[in-house]
Amino acid sequence: MLKKIEAIIREDKLNDVKEALRTIGIVGMNCFEIRGHGRQGGIKLSGRSGSYQVDMLPKIQLNIVLSDHNLEETVKTIVAAAKTGESGEAGDGLIFVYPVDEVVRIRTGERGHEAVMYPDDIDTRKGGR
Ligand SMILES: Nc1ncnc2c1ncn2[C@@H]1O[C@H](COP(=O)(O)OP(=O)(O)OP(=O)(O)O)[C@@H](O)[C@H]1O
Ligand SMILES: [Mg+2]
Repeated sequence: MLKKIEAIIREDKLNDVKEALRTIGIVGMNCFEIRGHGRQGGIKLSGRSGSYQVDMLPKIQLNIVLSDHNLEETVKTIVAAAKTGESGEAGDGLIFVYPVDEVVRIRTGERGHEAVMYPDDIDTRKGGR
């Protein structure tokens, strides 16, 4: 079974998260810049002309499609690396997990788990699957 992790993280945590994922052998990923808000509805800024609400704050969305046997370790790694300090702060982000029906590597036609295998990834390090 394949899953997709969609991790919404702080922009300044992207390098730490990428580094932590590299360390456990998660290779394939993509990310993009997004805007949004959660519980707090953004932040209130005060300027000379009064205060105003910025409701859509910039974040990074990191997308990873992986085999579900690697899901827990990967989610824990992201949480540890994306959290502010020991106890975390509002705005540290969210992780969404989805089922993925299929993956096809265009060059080879490989499908499913095979299509998300990479040299020296988390599975090959553990002796292959
Ligand atoms: N329900 C949602 N659906 C899609 N994206 C969301 C949702 N909630 C939050 N987001 C996105 O996730 C980002 C991070 O949200 P945030 O960390 O502030 O979560 P929160 O639920 O408010 O928790 P906290 O109280 O820790 O701040 C938001 O800026 C937004 O981009
Ligand atoms: Mg919030």
